[in-house]
Amino acid sequence: MANKQETLQHVALIMDGNGRWAKQRNLPRHLGHKEGCERIIETFEVCKKRNIKVLTLYAFSTENWNRPKAEIRHLFNYLESFFKKNIKKFERDGVRVQVMGDVTRLPLKTQKTLEEAIARTKDFDNFVFNIALNYGSQQELVKATKEIAKEVQDGKLDIQDINEDTISKHLYTHNLPPVDLMIRTSGECRLSNYLLYQLAYSEFIFTETYWPDFKEKEFEACLDEYYKRDRRYGGLSKKK
Ligand code: IPE
Ligand code: IPE
Ligand code: MG
Repeated sequence: MANKQETLQHVALIMDGNGRWAKQRNLPRHLGHKEGCERIIETFEVCKKRNIKVLTLYAFSTENWNRPKAEIRHLFNYLESFFKKNIKKFERDGVRVQVMGDVTRLPLKTQKTLEEAIARTKDFDNFVFNIALNYGSQQELVKATKEIAKEVQDGKLDIQDINEDTISKHLYTHNLPPVDLMIRTSGECRLSNYLLYQLAYSEFIFTETYWPDFKEKEFEACLDEYYKRDRRYGGLSKKK
């Protein structure tokens, strides 16, 4: 019987290094984002092939508003094109599109594209394509805390009954399995406000490769590396 460490259901990615990839080629930064979008669907194809149910992608953080307006505009334009290009494919493959983060601050056009993708795929269950947009994990935890406090205030929840599951239930990931593997590209070894609660027992891989250069072969190698890991969850190894 498969134990926890033999299954890989949920991969979370921090797609980093688009700007440096472009700079290396004397291109404007936004062309790094354009090329980066091409890797997204390829990565998702690998997930499907390896029967990984959920792919969570960090596409825009709450801190990314600190960037030049033109870069932000390009980024959202590329994301819109991505969804327009791939929505039919998601429908064919039974992929549910999910978004995490406060999308109300996104350009209206982007919000419309996302709403349509979500509506058209809401009943699918084969795979989940979960994209973090205007997402910040600290903000997500503040939101969860407020919701829980409100339930207590309204007499719907007893303080004594608050546990780890209560918090999980109030996160954007409430309907998803735990993150098994988190990969960050581009050599930065930090979380940058990503899934602070959800990554408690995930395996981490940090690779030097810039996201636009992160091809199927390297992703597959990361997945193979995951299966070599010994997830002990504070207990003792089950490996012989
Ligand atoms: C990741 O690449 C994409 C986003 C954050 C939107 P970057 O744009 O951060 O690329 P670098 O880190 O500057 O190279
Ligand atoms: C994290 O990358 C956010 C995304 C990949 C969307 P950043 O490039 O924004 O993070 P820092 O600034 O290096 O921490
Ligand atoms: Mg970066």
